[in-house]
Amino acid sequence: MKNDIVVEVKDVSKVYESSSGKIPVLNGVSLSIKKGEFVGVVGDSGSGKTTLLNLLGGMDSVSSGTITVAGNVISEYDDKQRTLYRRKNVGFIFQDYNLINELTVYENIILPFQLKKKEIKEDLIDKFLAMLKLEEKKNAFPMQLSGGEQQRAAILRALLSEPDIILADEPTGNLDSKNTQIVVGLLQYFSEHMGKTIFFVTHNMALTKGCSRVITVKDGKIATR
Ligand SMILES: Nc1ncnc2c1ncn2[C@@H]1O[C@H](COP(=O)(O)OP(=O)(O)OP(=O)(O)O)[C@@H](O)[C@H]1O
Ligand SMILES: [Mg+2]
Repeated sequence: MKNDIVVEVKDVSKVYESSSGKIPVLNGVSLSIKKGEFVGVVGDSGSGKTTLLNLLGGMDSVSSGTITVAGNVISEYDDKQRTLYRRKNVGFIFQDYNLINELTVYENIILPFQLKKKEIKEDLIDKFLAMLKLEEKKNAFPMQLSGGEQQRAAILRALLSEPDIILADEPTGNLDSKNTQIVVGLLQYFSEHMGKTIFFVTHNMALTKGCSRVITVKDGKIATR
């Protein structure tokens, strides 16, 4: 594995088992992603975008093939190893339910640090809260925030915990166009200026303009351009 390759997916297949039989979703997916790439992931509903992110994030296991993320051969991990990997190496930004409602913005942001037993960099947190125009919301609860503010706080949490990869599954799905632009701009900024490796699922092709690469999931495979 070359040093600057963070994610290496080799011939990965995923077949779900359900009561009505086997559901093949991914079939022979291969992919190499370098550190700092901002990868747009597009494809029809049901094509397997979330499935791919779940595999990369260690939420689910492959049916066959190998996945290596930052030197971790996660396709060989058991459930417990995957949980540890998830905590240590992956940042998540979803469409909804990103923040824990019982915790303040600040408490949400420091949660990954606490789980990893890492030092909390207060000045860095304050700097970025200001940058994202959230400084006055530091001690607010998620319910007291707008959708855009919640999503910015979730992005901040994912970024500050310094994961090897950030997985954003339709993070703008519930936002208006202004907040959508802000969120996508932030992801792009962090990939370009801070070397963050980001997977960004969207149904809106126009939003992939700032991506360094766009992959399309189709018929169980990936088309890159
Ligand atoms: N746990 C599961 N068990 C069985 N089938 C599943 C499971 N998760 C997903 N699927 C099926 O796998 C296929 C791919 O689902 P996936 O969620 O990856 O699609 P997607 O590309 O993210 O779609 P969307 O754009 O609608 O979010 C779908 O047909 C879905 O029904
Ligand atoms: Mg999905």
